[in-house]
Amino acid sequence: MQPMNKVTELTEWQALTGHQREIATQHMRDWFAHDGQRFSRFHLKVGDILLDYSRNRITEHTLRLLCDLLHAVSLPQKIQGLFNGDSVNTTEQRPALHTALRDRLHSPLLIEGQNIAALIEETQQRMRALTAQIHAKTWKGVTGKPISHVVNIGIGGSYLGPVMCTQALSDFAVSDLQFHFISSVDQAHVSDILQRIDPEATLFIISSKSFSTLETMTNAQRIHASMCEQFGEKVTEKQFIAITACAEKARAFGIPQENIYPLWDFVGGRYSIWSAIGLPLMLMIGTEHFAAFLAGAYEMDHHFKHADFSQNMPVLLAMLGVWYTNFFGANVQAIVPYAYRLRYFIPYLQQADMESNGKNINVQGEAVSYTTGPVIFGEEGCNGQHAYHQLLHQGQHLIPVDFIVVGSKKSSEADERHDMLIASALSQAQALMRGKTYAEAYNALIAAQYPAELAKTRAKHQVVPGNRPSNTLFLEGLTPHSLGALIALYEHKIFVQGVVWNINSFDQWGVELGKQFLPAILQHVQGQNDHEQMDCATAGMIHHVKKIRES
Ligand code: F6P
Repeated sequence: MQPMNKVTELTEWQALTGHQREIATQHMRDWFAHDGQRFSRFHLKVGDILLDYSRNRITEHTLRLLCDLLHAVSLPQKIQGLFNGDSVNTTEQRPALHTALRDRLHSPLLIEGQNIAALIEETQQRMRALTAQIHAKTWKGVTGKPISHVVNIGIGGSYLGPVMCTQALSDFAVSDLQFHFISSVDQAHVSDILQRIDPEATLFIISSKSFSTLETMTNAQRIHASMCEQFGEKVTEKQFIAITACAEKARAFGIPQENIYPLWDFVGGRYSIWSAIGLPLMLMIGTEHFAAFLAGAYEMDHHFKHADFSQNMPVLLAMLGVWYTNFFGANVQAIVPYAYRLRYFIPYLQQADMESNGKNINVQGEAVSYTTGPVIFGEEGCNGQHAYHQLLHQGQHLIPVDFIVVGSKKSSEADERHDMLIASALSQAQALMRGKTYAEAYNALIAAQYPAELAKTRAKHQVVPGNRPSNTLFLEGLTPHSLGALIALYEHKIFVQGVVWNINSFDQWGVELGKQFLPAILQHVQGQNDHEQMDCATAGMIHHVKKIRES
């Protein structure tokens, strides 16, 4: 096998390059016209998720070549390494064991001499006990009121998972608790939330793996100080919880040890919803539903670990992504859920994917010469199709789409709307695949009584190239179980792509750089420092900000 940094020199890669040339001019519309079995051959069901990947520019041979590439980059061994706790985060020399958090078998796993399965179980037990007390209203605020509001103070992975999952699963709420999320340091965000709560009946959860993220700590300190001013120091033990991997910093903040829930270095921030970071979700949906959420992810883990690559859902999604990114030059991927409750799934995936695979240095520390993680964007389907979908259909970029559609077993008045959602997703997928030829456009205009001359010119504008790929993921319902599986599906897709690209999907040094610059620039904005040493754009803007403030 060739060294991993030479992935583009592998014969398997070159075979794909040659194959792409062969099929680049073929149109999916023709494949569908001649093959009524395409859906049967190119769909896969795992648990409560069905993936239709028939509308892709692939043949069975493409998939075989992609599987060959995955074997050439030792994916089977890498998957084992991920689950076994190898230091897959090479720059920080840590494993990435989000899978251990949902291992329903609690298989013992030693990391630095500690059985992490026991640590995880102990923490989950504490989360369940706290949830039971809050639901039973025996956990009371400082003035004796039971908790009715929960405010999560956190950002990035300490925000996006909890907010996305509580939105997605709000139909599964088992209590009347109200949930709020403060992520931005913008006062407008903070005051909007604080106006909606009853401070005496609010549990504040400070979620920060590092317990040092500036936005989170600023919000936590201000809110904590104001609560202490109103209700005295005792409010901390009754109404403040910390979730962190840095317990000593939380203790220094004033949080008592019994209110600190651990997170560990072996869990990345963007992979942490399965840990105590998921506490708001457990408080909303209860312990049984939370267990189902973990079980859904566990089942996807099991599938990922054991299924043959050609029948492996995360692997298929990853291969298709690599196929378009590296062989068709597609740099963007759209995520389009036709489900209002999944609208936060897009920013969630933006962090999961772009923070993981937005890298230009390989594991050996060399610059990579090929494209890695794509730009992830999207919008809830109904809104997106009346906005940016124009570019998906007729723009110059090839943008593969993942449509996410949710089924429903209930028969109710909502069915008509639900039918429309499903039909909308399917019609978008079909339009992207088929497109519209000049002859079709012209004939339709003539049939609509347009004069021939006008029809000739108008038809040119109505040509839609088609041949634009999409996957459709159909969830049998939006349940704790299916959501757990869906998140795990994308986590593993991202991992597989990181393996192919030979990058570390578990660090984020670029983000760290922004964090490093912030304190010094903040000092300049606050006028505590001369801004001479900054670049002229930063200095010029700071000067302008001060001028406006003083005017
Ligand atoms: O902004 C980048 C980041 O480091 C993310 O990876 C992380 O999820 C987020 O900040 C929040 O970090 P913390 O949980 O340590 O406050």
